[in-house]
Amino acid sequence: MVAIHSAVVALLPLIPSALGQTCTNIAPVNAATFAPGYEGRVVVNGLKGPRGLIFDIQGNLLTSEQSAYGVRYIQLTDNGGTNICVKSQKQLIADSSLNHGIALSANGKKLFASSKSTVYSWDYDGSTGTVSNKKTVITGMSTSGHATRTLLVPKSQPNILLVQVGSNGNLDTGAAQPSSGRSQIRIFKLADIDAGPKAYTTGEILGYGIRNNVGIAEDPHGGIFSVNNGMDDMTVSGKDVHNTNPCEELNYHGRINDTSSAERGKSYGYPTCHSIFDPSVLPSPFNTQFKVGDTITNGASSAACTRVAPKLCFPAHTAPLDLKFNAAGSAAYVTFHGSWNRNPPDGYRLSRVAWNPQTGQPVANVTSGAGAAENIMVNANNNAGCPNRCFRPAGLAWSPSGKLFLSSDTTNEIWVIGGAN
Ligand SMILES: *[C@@H]1O[C@H](CO)[C@@H](O)[C@H](O)[C@H]1NC(C)=O
Ligand SMILES: *[C@@H]1O[C@H](CO)[C@@H](O)[C@H](O)[C@H]1NC(C)=O
Repeated sequence: MVAIHSAVVALLPLIPSALGQTCTNIAPVNAATFAPGYEGRVVVNGLKGPRGLIFDIQGNLLTSEQSAYGVRYIQLTDNGGTNICVKSQKQLIADSSLNHGIALSANGKKLFASSKSTVYSWDYDGSTGTVSNKKTVITGMSTSGHATRTLLVPKSQPNILLVQVGSNGNLDTGAAQPSSGRSQIRIFKLADIDAGPKAYTTGEILGYGIRNNVGIAEDPHGGIFSVNNGMDDMTVSGKDVHNTNPCEELNYHGRINDTSSAERGKSYGYPTCHSIFDPSVLPSPFNTQFKVGDTITNGASSAACTRVAPKLCFPAHTAPLDLKFNAAGSAAYVTFHGSWNRNPPDGYRLSRVAWNPQTGQPVANVTSGAGAAENIMVNANNNAGCPNRCFRPAGLAWSPSGKLFLSSDTTNEIWVIGGAN
């Protein structure tokens, strides 16, 4: 018995190498700290500003590289858990104008990517990692101010493409008009844009008056949610309140298949109406009149704002860039790229927002402020090095086997996050 037992023990260390590979550890550029139950591992490094992140239906990872490269195709070897490494990678599309937006059609055969001004499509073959038949599909997007465009083909309505354009500056007065084509999300039918290029302002407006809505996602009910980057350098009645105001917002746009929802085509208030994150710093009497999440008009007092109010209010300048729902609809993960307009720095993290799978809405509400989000992955010390020596989360994607991947555009890495579900 003793002899057999020893033999079994001796064999155990051999099993992993006999049955599978162990990926080489890639040291992160900046170490991350994880909440209990979570872990992370760098899967790919040495990229060129990875931003948008999607999986094709074959399980390959595609990322838009913002620093003048285009789109990269990455085949992965998955040895279980976070033991995932690169099998092969190559540049799929060389186009230095492509800077963020990336989406695939439901059948995985049409790839969309965007520059500041234009959305293009390609026929895509995920098994060979090849594209062909490039077409210009949407033209004439604003070329001043916020440069990234976010693209989404909703699962519950896969015959459309949502396209986001941000403001042309910090306070874009023209964006109050939907016809400006800025600070809004528009809806395009895939069949229409495939037939020939369409001007951005010909799309149906899903929502407008949203300063820079970089993350757009669909929950399992077909509800569309987005995360917005609020204004910088905010003052109220001449008082500088910008360090802790306004909120970064989570907004709801209704179910995408519900053309008569209360939110469809409505204004979310920018550039006039903003949400307060920190009422205590407002000048009197607003400091006692307002609570977290209330709406204030820009630079002034209490004029009425007609707008769709946000569902959640995140800390000022934390810069949410993406959100993705888990399959159960019980959580949304949000990347906060991090601040430049506040002291001390804030953001630079991946957070989890608890969701109610029955209602399809967040568990917390706008009055919860920072309490709506639980931090999952943070820099050890934002004050020490952010924004220049920090990881800065940008894009999120679920692999077909249900693992969460995250891009960091300053450290040029893609991570897999263990424990996220
Ligand atoms: C919209 O989609 C939801 C969920 O996918 C579905 O339950 C609902 O019936 C759909 N409504 C319409 C009008 O198609
Ligand atoms: C927001 O949440 C708080 C705490 O759960 C609750 O007391 C409050 O009634 C909620 N407000 C709204 C408008 O739902």
